[in-house]
Amino acid sequence: MLVEKPSIQSSQIEELSIELPNAKIILGDARKVLARIPSNSFRCCVTSPPYWGLRDYSIDGQIGAENNVGDFVKDLVAIFREVRRTLTDDGTLWLNIGDSYTSGGRTWRAPDSKNVARGMSYRAPTPEGLKPKDLIGVPWRVAFALQEDGWYLRSDNIWYKPNCQPESVKDRPTRSHEYLFLLSKSEKYFYDHEAIKEPAANGKTRNKRTVWQVNTEPFSGAHFAVFPPSLVEPCILAGSQEGDTVLDPFFGSGTVGLVCQKLNRRCTGIELNQDYAEIAKQRLGII
Ligand SMILES: C[S@@+](CC[C@H](N)C(=O)[O-])C[C@H]1O[C@@H](n2cnc3c(N)ncnc32)[C@H](O)[C@@H]1O
Repeated sequence: MLVEKPSIQSSQIEELSIELPNAKIILGDARKVLARIPSNSFRCCVTSPPYWGLRDYSIDGQIGAENNVGDFVKDLVAIFREVRRTLTDDGTLWLNIGDSYTSGGRTWRAPDSKNVARGMSYRAPTPEGLKPKDLIGVPWRVAFALQEDGWYLRSDNIWYKPNCQPESVKDRPTRSHEYLFLLSKSEKYFYDHEAIKEPAANGKTRNKRTVWQVNTEPFSGAHFAVFPPSLVEPCILAGSQEGDTVLDPFFGSGTVGLVCQKLNRRCTGIELNQDYAEIAKQRLGII
């Protein structure tokens, strides 16, 4: 059924808010928007922040463009502290994040015809203490900082991408994984392990393992770092129940919202870039 798609509405505050059946998209900087959301609003958060120094989303205030990896980690810790406040006490955070290498003194990166956001007008300098060609270890820097800030770090799931981007490197293996950390607000938390059991031998099922094999999926919209829905689905199934509300503070093209629609959850998405919020609105406006 095609429902009428509401247009972006101006609110009294500086953000714009789009109300859709079972979803709300708030256009604004996650730092400012989250501060105004009441505590205990969401059962879980599933999100993928911009990776440090890897993409240019061409907008002021974007996370990931910090000159220094330490500042990037601090920015994420501050945002996820607010996310923790807005979660119920039994809530979880499912955080997808990838790693990067030092830029080796390069100051820009040419645009890629298949992925415009990979073109960079700036490259962050090599972080202090690292050398050209070093793997930075961004996901673990973020995970340890979140743990230090009070989160329970519960699982480092590996998103294995069989159809990863080829790389021209000849002195290391081609990267074919990213991390999907499970963190909880409290020691005990909601986690429906039954809902995400995986097939085992002899037609039986077993507890889900930590390596998740999921192909990246092409998306023809103008946003270039979209989640594959099948990566998001287990997070929402394990981290929430029907009727719960799920948060994504880096909503992009709204994949978390799409999966929520399919699984009968509500969703709140925050996105800084109006063009991406529009894409999400179009994707979610059709039920
Ligand atoms: C990796 S993408 C998320 C893609 C999303 N998971 C999807 O499936 O389309 C990260 C998003 O964070 C947004 N972003 C960057 N800085 C932000 C900020 N300060 N507040 C809110 N969104 C931000 C970017 O515009 C980008 O759309």
